[in-house]
Amino acid sequence: MAQVLVTGATSGIGQAIALAFHSAGHQVTAVGRDAVALARLGALGLTALRMDLGDVAELTDRLAAALADDVPDVLVNNAGMVAAPGNFCDMDEGDIHRQVSTNLTQAILVTRAVVPGMRARGAGHIFFTGSIAGHTPYPNMAVYAATKAALGGFAQSLRLDLSPHGVRVTEIVAGRVESPLYKDVLTPDERAAMYAGQTAVQPEDVAAMVMAVHAMPAHVNVSRFDILPTRQPVMAQVAAAGGKK
Ligand SMILES: NC(=O)c1ccc[n+]([C@@H]2O[C@H](COP(=O)([O-])OP(=O)(O)OC[C@H]3O[C@@H](n4cnc5c(N)ncnc54)[C@H](OP(=O)(O)O)[C@@H]3O)[C@@H](O)[C@H]2O)c1
Repeated sequence: MAQVLVTGATSGIGQAIALAFHSAGHQVTAVGRDAVALARLGALGLTALRMDLGDVAELTDRLAAALADDVPDVLVNNAGMVAAPGNFCDMDEGDIHRQVSTNLTQAILVTRAVVPGMRARGAGHIFFTGSIAGHTPYPNMAVYAATKAALGGFAQSLRLDLSPHGVRVTEIVAGRVESPLYKDVLTPDERAAMYAGQTAVQPEDVAAMVMAVHAMPAHVNVSRFDILPTRQPVMAQVAAAGGKK
């Protein structure tokens, strides 16, 4: 039984990954802010850890206190947010900071908090939920794309630092996944348009891949996998749905 820490476990992709590890008999700590969702996960037997990961100033200290010396075997750096799509010239400065801290800085800090223990143990597996937006240009999502590109660069370089110590690193390069990600920034009609015409990847599909990758023998590191709807073109319709500015 592995100890698994999943950030952004209260919803969407992270929740599906957390539940998949839990169903496979592992001990899962679920991190998020949504108290109702955390209580629901707690009732299922997961350990709920309520934290605002966007508040990066004291993140390392709070995480260290929460985990004590309990270094997870698996870390899934999944928490993330997207600001309202739109032209960068019109972007709110607060949204820039929120995306950088929530999508990038916190994942680096959470990783920093657990890797010394994994290195000492000589084993571990760290996943990052990246995005196809980090690997191809997307209009109206410049900062989101930048955070995901940086996350991918961090993951691939981190793999080189950790590979001598038996710690695996996997970047999940996700295309369109039907989740609540855009619920606060697009109208229901815009969200429906975003998923129309495609059969979106479901959070459970991503979780199934994560479980398969993790189940590979310890000498195999799947350093990245891309998971896209079969019908998704390389350039997504995110901008078309939300980029009206
Ligand atoms: N959906 C897609 O099409 C897609 C495609 C590529 C990549 N991704 C990435 O997949 C990851 C998961 O997104 P999703 O699609 O599953 O969306 P989601 O359902 O909105 O999930 C986002 C998760 O991140 C957590 N989170 C956000 N801000 C947080 C904060 N400040 N502190 C703690 N937790 C925070 C949320 O928890 P609380 O609400 O409880 O805080 C929630 O559990 C994100 O990194 C996203 O960028 C998504």
